[in-house]
Amino acid sequence: MRLSVDGARLTRELSQLATISAEPPPVVTRVVFSEADMHARRYLWQLCEDAGLELRHDPVGNTFARWRGTQPELPPVATGSHIDAIPNAGSYDGTVGVVGGLEAIRTLARAGYQPRRSIELILFTAEEPTRFGIGCLGSRLIAGSLPASVDETLLDADGQTLRQARSQAGFTGTLADVALKPGHFSAFVELHIEQGPLLEQHGNEIGIVTAIAAPATLRIALTGEGGHAGAVLMPQRRDAFLAAAEVGLAVERSALSTESVDTVATTGLCQVFPGAVNSVPSSVKMEIDVRDIDGERRDAVLKSIQTATSEICARRKIHAKIDLLNADPPAQSSPAIVELLATGCVAYGLRGEKMISRAYHDSLFMSRITPTAMIFVPSRAGVSHRPDEYTSAESISNGVLLLAATLEQLAASA
Ligand code: GLV
Ligand code: MN
Ligand code: MN
Repeated sequence: MRLSVDGARLTRELSQLATISAEPPPVVTRVVFSEADMHARRYLWQLCEDAGLELRHDPVGNTFARWRGTQPELPPVATGSHIDAIPNAGSYDGTVGVVGGLEAIRTLARAGYQPRRSIELILFTAEEPTRFGIGCLGSRLIAGSLPASVDETLLDADGQTLRQARSQAGFTGTLADVALKPGHFSAFVELHIEQGPLLEQHGNEIGIVTAIAAPATLRIALTGEGGHAGAVLMPQRRDAFLAAAEVGLAVERSALSTESVDTVATTGLCQVFPGAVNSVPSSVKMEIDVRDIDGERRDAVLKSIQTATSEICARRKIHAKIDLLNADPPAQSSPAIVELLATGCVAYGLRGEKMISRAYHDSLFMSRITPTAMIFVPSRAGVSHRPDEYTSAESISNGVLLLAATLEQLAASA
């Protein structure tokens, strides 16, 4: 089948989407259920309707946009990604898989293709952990990997529950209805930017993801005693920030101790209370991200951080509350879809390589309920989660072409 991606339209739509942000360009900040997120969703829903897709929204706000197949009773093939963006992000993380997924469907439709299985584009809610502390919220719930009780237990920084936030955004119903059974989909393929430098360094156009590293998040609340920065003498202090500083160093030490480049750990959030120059910090909230392609080694690092935190806090007379928000196993891609992607690269003359994803994606959870694989396209200088994140229109079109060709095959299968 002769497939021709409309790269100009895709670029226009991605640029338009990038303007829907809580911060002025080039910064993209789109926190789940914020005004920017809802505006961006409405923009995407309209594009999907314009393409003739049927829309369904589940109780957590995942959207399923369906191109009905000639045998709609068969489990559909799915693609998609997320449009939420962390604070101070760029324009391509997640969005390429959503707008690109839509363009893959439109490419197939323009070529006169009639899918046997339906093809669904999924816009996942909150792949980013910014608001509720846990990544892949929508896909986690789809995979049945979170209990419905998180509706009341997940809180944002303002103390709003997930239930309150989603219902204000117009998504109601019980979270128990979000889970989909294994076999609900026949396959899932996600297009995403690499977010690392390897494709560019190797001069390759496509990354075929064979596995996704195992992410984990710790939240640590440290409570000491505040007071006047001039009046409280040093020996009497129980400064929560100084404990946090030591914990941050222990995080780095724990990751380095594995002596593997595959272990990474980041203290990405450290909020000091009350945050006044002339006040001894009385409490600190930290969030720590730990990842490894080896789940057991990652768990050992988590343990070492927890042990170090207890020791530091005992010594400094600080109360520590440590919560493990998530510790997910790594995911393996479906060998059959990986093979299909490799064959597609050869057929379309695309230079591809197999690689591991060090970032997590909704595919981490989709792989629990359906055969899954991912297509990566190059990130300039490997930069991501920054406003200067960039992937060329040509690279994105290459990814969309391979995605369309792969969906074509998957949707034709018996
Ligand atoms: C996803 O955004 C990740 O942090 O890997
Ligand atoms: Mn991201
Ligand atoms: Mn992403």
